[in-house]
Amino acid sequence: METQSHEIGMVGLGVMGRNMLLNMADHGFPVAGYDKDAAKVEALRQESAGKNVRSAGDIQDFIALLRPPRAVMMLVPAGPPVDSVIADLLPHLDKGDLVIDAGNSYFKDTIVRARNLAQQGIQFLGVGVSGGEEGARHGASLMPGGPREAFERVRPLLEAVAAKVDGEPCVTYLGVGSCGHFVKTVHNGIEYAVMQLLAETYDLMKRGLGLSSDELRDVYAAWNRGELASYLVEITSQIFGTVDDRTGKPLIDVLLDVAKQNGTGMWTSQSAMELQVPTPTIDFAVTMRDLSVLVKQRDTASDIYQRPTPPFTGDRRAFIEELGRAFHAATITAYAQGMALLATASEKFEFGLDLEAVARIWRGGCIIRAALLEDIRRAYRSQPNLANLILAPELSKRIIANEDALRGIVRSAIELGVPAPCFMTALSYLDGYRSAWLPANLIQAQRDYFGAHTYSRIDVKGTYHTEWKKR
Ligand code: 6PG
Repeated sequence: METQSHEIGMVGLGVMGRNMLLNMADHGFPVAGYDKDAAKVEALRQESAGKNVRSAGDIQDFIALLRPPRAVMMLVPAGPPVDSVIADLLPHLDKGDLVIDAGNSYFKDTIVRARNLAQQGIQFLGVGVSGGEEGARHGASLMPGGPREAFERVRPLLEAVAAKVDGEPCVTYLGVGSCGHFVKTVHNGIEYAVMQLLAETYDLMKRGLGLSSDELRDVYAAWNRGELASYLVEITSQIFGTVDDRTGKPLIDVLLDVAKQNGTGMWTSQSAMELQVPTPTIDFAVTMRDLSVLVKQRDTASDIYQRPTPPFTGDRRAFIEELGRAFHAATITAYAQGMALLATASEKFEFGLDLEAVARIWRGGCIIRAALLEDIRRAYRSQPNLANLILAPELSKRIIANEDALRGIVRSAIELGVPAPCFMTALSYLDGYRSAWLPANLIQAQRDYFGAHTYSRIDVKGTYHTEWKKR
């Protein structure tokens, strides 16, 4: 066996690992893959015929293929499988080797793993990868974090397998520690929010207007030709155009109305709560997935709270146009919430994140790529310390232009009895954020009343307490 000549090894030859490896090989890198599952090893062997790819089912054989100091990437499910791969690898690794976790790992796990490996002289990079199977094979968005010199070692490889936009690879060194996995987590939080917003537009057009799947396909296709263009809008249109082979019906109509999750959206909300950053649209997107799972309870409740959707009497074309504009404004607030979370996390965890760079590498390859990201990038380029995207001149103009539509759609959803919490939270976030005054003085007073938590005043500095009951 040809030994010590392969540039990088991949542990985990599932769909993502195998495709990423083939992508690397296509760019001229000699690579080796390893999996405990013999069927996956065989699948790679067959798929990579004629390429500079070796596959191994034995960890020792695999390690022997790699050029020292070694670089090993793993693409395995987040959680215990990552630790178990690290434990399997460790006895075979030497000081100076590099381990890359390219899965959707929880950022706090990444901190622990990096620390443990560093104690043994092994470098660790946490790399967020977005783009699914297609991205892994033909160009993904990659979000690396960890020691800079570790990134530099694999930079040519990562740049080669990344998607390109205007010739620029959708990868850049993001910062220290677990920042790559944190950025990927927030990417997914935004992904959840945009997916839920799209699901709400579907609901409003299906239950509200009674649109057929073909009509829905055309609406999303039209949106995708304008400023709403994005990967998620594009695939939504294609989904509505897909027919079920088994029944001949639109495939979407035979799918169960239950949406599961692997945890990244939840981690985004948890982190936002911990860092005290408001991300209500992302939070509600997670909540709606949780609610969707309660099938039996929803069924029972639908009998108790019967409320047939009233027939739509307005102008359908005008409603669809308004919906598109509302989606536009709501989407900007969803990105704004995610980016604000990144800004705070970067400060708190000392990631040193450059938000313009984040927007740049999200323009291609990833699930939330959208025409809007070009504007987001520009906003951070002219104001790197922008506190919130919705304060940026260009984006605020767009929100203002579509705010009436957002309000109109929320009103319609209420009248129709169609749940649209992501539209509603997007609007409430906007209304809350732009309120120079909020009724939080009452909250202060209540806290001080029952808990003597003290309050601050508008006229004099310091903290005060009132014996409210004695007044
Ligand atoms: C991506 C996706 C990818 C995966 C998510 C789905 O960026 O390529 O986000 O990472 O599809 O894990 O997440 P849920 O299973 O939680 O919906």
